[in-house]
Amino acid sequence: MEQYAIKGGNPLVGEVEIGGAKNAALPILAASVMTDDTVYIDNMPDVRDTNVLIKAMQEIGVSIERTGRHSVKINAGQINNLVVENESIKKIRAGYYLLGAMLGKYKHAEVALPGGCDIGCRAIDQHIKGFKALGAEVVIENGLIKTRAERLVGTHIYMDCVSVGATINVMMAATLAEGKTIIENAAKEPHVVDAANFLNSMGANIKGAGTDVIRIKGVAKLHGTEYTVIPDQIEAGTFMFAAAVTKGDVTVKNVIPKHLESISAKLIEIGCEIEESDDCMRVVASKPLKHTHVKTLPYPGFPTDMQPQITVALAIAGGTSIVTDTIFENRFKYVDELIRMGANIKVEGTTAIIEGIKRFSGANLFAPDLRAGAALVLAGLSAEDFTTVDDIHYIARGYEDFHLKLQSLGAQIELVSSERDLQKFKLKIS
Ligand code: EPZ
Repeated sequence: MEQYAIKGGNPLVGEVEIGGAKNAALPILAASVMTDDTVYIDNMPDVRDTNVLIKAMQEIGVSIERTGRHSVKINAGQINNLVVENESIKKIRAGYYLLGAMLGKYKHAEVALPGGCDIGCRAIDQHIKGFKALGAEVVIENGLIKTRAERLVGTHIYMDCVSVGATINVMMAATLAEGKTIIENAAKEPHVVDAANFLNSMGANIKGAGTDVIRIKGVAKLHGTEYTVIPDQIEAGTFMFAAAVTKGDVTVKNVIPKHLESISAKLIEIGCEIEESDDCMRVVASKPLKHTHVKTLPYPGFPTDMQPQITVALAIAGGTSIVTDTIFENRFKYVDELIRMGANIKVEGTTAIIEGIKRFSGANLFAPDLRAGAALVLAGLSAEDFTTVDDIHYIARGYEDFHLKLQSLGAQIELVSSERDLQKFKLKIS
């Protein structure tokens, strides 16, 4: 069983290249089935979730070739099955994007109910409401969401909650509907905008992505395109917080600073210095960290996907901090692991009350999900002594070469797969 072995204490210093955004790449991959022409996508992250989706798409007859580690060539002209029930697709959330994409193109799709990180109830009622409003029938049967339509007709849809997945899914189906669709209370995340830009590059007519009203004029057909996925806001934010918790000096490269504003604002509040240039952000953490309050919100608010990372930083900051997650109701499971490292955190519902301690002590930890797993690695990097993090397959869902990138910044971290490897690591660094 693979785990990360970590010896904390080294300040992370240097530059790290940020990859393509997982949460943009997933809908873009799914949307590429909406044309029979060939699509070329660049800056595709090589992470588990994108690879699972690629495999599931290949199994229904989509031709997908990795022409480089981060580029794919896709042709969906020969799809032979509109039912996606690949075992692994059940474990990722984004399989549901094939519903909107295939419903739009073929007026029929059946996809296994989504899994994904266990961070709350994660309903899909808004996806279903949107598909039905466009004229589709939707039923859930035998573990599949089945949707079918004679024709899809544009309409006015008000989302009851701000949902990234529902906004993108309904936008995809509406792209090939007849007439005009308006989505109100739409999500504004950078990956929603990227998915819209990708669809527009294939000939869609989508306006307003990035605001809370998206207007879509249905088109009859989409064509091939070449597209580059945006940089990953959350991967970048994670490395920025890695600098903060290790008293380091890290520059994240190939980022869009605008997407990182809420993250850099909090880093400044807790005492870090930020230098911004066109596509880089430098975080210098030379002073002791200070407390603050954080509430996660839909974009442009502070992202829920950065909540565990900032909690780790606040756990070793001076004073009392309060972190509230307004997006998911069960995203503090990792706090028990931090408590085993000496943290003083009390969780009440969706709020964590944190009394900063001086330093974590190393412990054997289990990653409960993707972002929490990455945050526990950061805790290990700032801790005294050794830490191990198990269940790191979660981290591989969304971070490419996580430990290698950390090593390149001077972190003492290794991927080990046996007790012998672990002892070797301990000997090497003692
Ligand atoms: C996306 O999940 C991301 N996943 C998540 O990233 C991210 O945490 C989340 O958006 C919020 O930014 C992908 O893009 C694959 P939502 P999604 O629909 O689309 C409620 C990561 O770590 N809701 O915006 O599933 C829902 O319960 C992952 O990379 C409904 O009530 O999130 C939640 O409380 C974890 N009904 C809130 O909305 C619906 O039909 C936001 O969910 C849909 C959602």
